[in-house]
Amino acid sequence: MGTKIGILTGGGDCPGLNPAIRGCVLRGLDFGYEFVGILEGWKGLIEGNTIALSLETVEEITGRGGTILGTSRTNPYKKENGVEKCLANFQKLGLDALVAMGGEDTLGVATKLYEEKKLPVVGVPKTMDNDLSATDYTFGFDSAVTVAVEAASRLIDTGRSHRRIMVLEVMGRHAGWVALFTGLASGADWILLPEKEVEVNPMCQHLKKVWARKKYALVVVSEGVILPGVKTDKEELDEFGHMILKKRGIGEQLADLIEKETGIETRLAVIGHIQRGGSPTLFDRILGLRVGYKAAELIQEGRFGQMVALRGNEVIGVALKEATGQLKLVNEPWLQMMYSFFK
Ligand code: F6P
Repeated sequence: MGTKIGILTGGGDCPGLNPAIRGCVLRGLDFGYEFVGILEGWKGLIEGNTIALSLETVEEITGRGGTILGTSRTNPYKKENGVEKCLANFQKLGLDALVAMGGEDTLGVATKLYEEKKLPVVGVPKTMDNDLSATDYTFGFDSAVTVAVEAASRLIDTGRSHRRIMVLEVMGRHAGWVALFTGLASGADWILLPEKEVEVNPMCQHLKKVWARKKYALVVVSEGVILPGVKTDKEELDEFGHMILKKRGIGEQLADLIEKETGIETRLAVIGHIQRGGSPTLFDRILGLRVGYKAAELIQEGRFGQMVALRGNEVIGVALKEATGQLKLVNEPWLQMMYSFFK
């Protein structure tokens, strides 16, 4: 009997997942592996819901957004007998190893299943938030920011015509990378990140100054930002205990506040899930293919409990535990540069 590998994609989808699936399957074929696609993340393993993954299945998916396997935010540790069902189906499907492609939640489950149940698992990092430690970039981020930068440039056009302040709300959860890169790449006049307390007065004074000079201003805000005095204790949580941030409406609160404090007409755009759709960028296609390819190699080398990581220009294996221990947040040197660009 040959070696049979399961692949699942969990958590929020993002461009780059399909190239990663393709990279893994194509490299695995070199080793004579057979592949099974587990549908909708951990939910598919709990339910034993799969499709065959062959050369034909992955043939034309490099440029396709989303994930051909479907995804969910199901946490087996929060379902009745969820973990036992995952282990039983792993056996029943005749799997020798599992490739889990996901962010901190999906990989957190993979880490636990490896540590506690010795499940032979290899992780592939994905998230548009780019907040995974141990890897320099995750695929999905470049595509999401590319969409956001395009949105920002459209907002600048209309903002300039109407002499308005334009606020753009982007995703990113509790890390500000998407907002930071969007803001820097589009020449934003102020950027608000979850890593930094909101300074209402300096921001509004600065926006007034900028507006006096160029008759419009662009503000980029991350969905994870909390305005001073706003309570968050009644927020709705998902199965992994995360706030469902899009329901908070930070962009709207911020646009109202800016208009009130500056007296300048202000408009808001929330691009939400548009950032997660569409074809992966060149960077995300190549990164997806590379990390998928490496995942098959880690299996071949028997390096379970590891995650593929991009370090500089090298794709290597690191301990899953290292990757899921702590979120990667925007650090001081980036913040310093950001503030220096508000002129
Ligand atoms: O983690 C990726 C992400 O897009 C976050 O930026 C965002 O907060 C969240 O997923 C949205 O999740 P959902 O698709 O479940 O609404």
